[in-house]
Amino acid sequence: MGTTGTHNHEIYDVVGIGFGPSNLSLAIALEEHRANVPEHPVKAAFFERQPAFGWHRNMLLPSTTMQISFLKDLATFRNPVSRFSFVSYLHAAGRLVQFVNNQDFFPTRQEFHQYLEWAASGLADRVSYGSEVTAIRPAQDTGSKTPEHLRLEVRDAAGGVRQVRARNVTISTGLVPRMPAGVARDERVWHSSEFLEKFHGLDPNELKSVAVVGAGQSAAEITRFLYDKLPHARVSAVIPSYGYSVADDTPFANQVFDPAAVDEYYFGTDQAREAFWHYHRNTNYSVVDDEVIRDLHQRSYEEEVRGSKRLYFLNLTRVAEVTRNGGDTRLTLNSLLDSEPQELHVDALVFATGYEGMDPARLLGDFDRHFLRDVNGRHRVERDYRLVTATGPSCGIYLQGGTEHTHGLSSSLLSNIAVRSGEIADSIVLRRAEQEQGGARTVEVAGVAGRA
Ligand code: FDA
Ligand code: NAP
Repeated sequence: MGTTGTHNHEIYDVVGIGFGPSNLSLAIALEEHRANVPEHPVKAAFFERQPAFGWHRNMLLPSTTMQISFLKDLATFRNPVSRFSFVSYLHAAGRLVQFVNNQDFFPTRQEFHQYLEWAASGLADRVSYGSEVTAIRPAQDTGSKTPEHLRLEVRDAAGGVRQVRARNVTISTGLVPRMPAGVARDERVWHSSEFLEKFHGLDPNELKSVAVVGAGQSAAEITRFLYDKLPHARVSAVIPSYGYSVADDTPFANQVFDPAAVDEYYFGTDQAREAFWHYHRNTNYSVVDDEVIRDLHQRSYEEEVRGSKRLYFLNLTRVAEVTRNGGDTRLTLNSLLDSEPQELHVDALVFATGYEGMDPARLLGDFDRHFLRDVNGRHRVERDYRLVTATGPSCGIYLQGGTEHTHGLSSSLLSNIAVRSGEIADSIVLRRAEQEQGGARTVEVAGVAGRA
């Protein structure tokens, strides 16, 4: 798809905002949907603000591995014979046999990135890169009624703005980097999401002392990377806990990411939902893979044996203040083990302090008031991932991400994207049939007869 042209006239059945794994998976689900026939295609377009496909490129650190099985790819759980599966990719890349010999369920992030790029290239005709969606508005003024279609503003890299119309939108814009309050990012103070780009922007010889804040997977991976890449530098890990905690990926706990867990979470009581978080937050948040923890400890122990130390773990410690002065960054640290604040001077500081969930309100602007919220002020979301409107369905705003409060722990992860995309594709097709027929009829969705 070009960046100019026919958008003004066309009304798409669905426009996807963002082309990360979630919408890539949706593009595949629509492509493979049995209702998507040449005489009545599901018209879909996707807009991605990056100039080309990229999945957390700034965290593509050497040797880092996926945190899900290769079978939780873009399609397999929905369609095990999809031509967009990871196994198909391995076959196309001529590595299927070697992959099996390698006997590892968890590919490197580098290899999974290659897989995602390969899948994205197979769908390039429906994606516009370098295209940021800046607003979603009703296409016509319908007062308090939900409009029949939506108008999206899309800005290209040169600053040009164009309008696109759609009956449905899927917002899949991803996680939002979180910095501690009052700390600004700059060329020496980074969030983990911009790590490699910032790191490569500086001369490594200038980095004699660096610090990493946080005790999650990003923090541990970056600490290990800096220690290995900067053999002359002091590396300080500022961690809020006493030590890194292991990510629970054992088989029973891992069931929280199963497709069936989404129903149990969605239709469960408040108490059940709370229990999911209480018992299983440590499957994903503020935790680190066993192998990375052991790697770091090994480096620390080898220092003890050698009698030379440059890797420091500042436990039970938080950053109270960051003061910048040219190349120097001064941290004021509060440790629960020390009554006095400590000072640390570094040449670069990385906040691996996690992410906020996706919030659709930013794109919806004033239009957001059409959508209902729960008693805690969070968007209400249908089981099919559509925002709940005050006036009933017409056009649909679907969310991929930002639904942890309604659909559970897998919302921001890859674990369930194949199934979720299939459910969203089904919903779009069913509702299209309903609107066209103006009444109930039976349509075929995803291999089963469903009532529309
Ligand atoms: P993702 O963030 O990948 O994509 C969103 C896309 O939308 C981006 O390409 C962005 O540029 C684009 N975009 C944003 N706003 C836009 C706009 N207004 N207009 C147009 N485009 C816009 N999970 C897991 O299950 N297993 C794993 O191994 C990992 N590994 C992992 C590593 C790292 C470093 C991080 C930070 C996270 C993970 N995750 C993960 C979790 C992660 O959320 C998940 O892997 C996917 O990135 C989710 O895919 P999405 O497409 O929803 O978001
Ligand atoms: P995270 O798990 O949310 O961890 C954030 C860490 O920062 C926590 O230790 C948190 O401490 C700490 N923190 C937050 N605010 C802080 C503050 N103000 N001061 C000091 N510490 C603070 O984030 P993440 O490590 O970026 O992981 C996010 C997601 O990306 C996860 O799903 C993870 O699995 C994924 N990921 C995957 C890979 C991979 O696939 N290899 C790599 C990196 C990340 P508290 O616990 O006290 O809040």
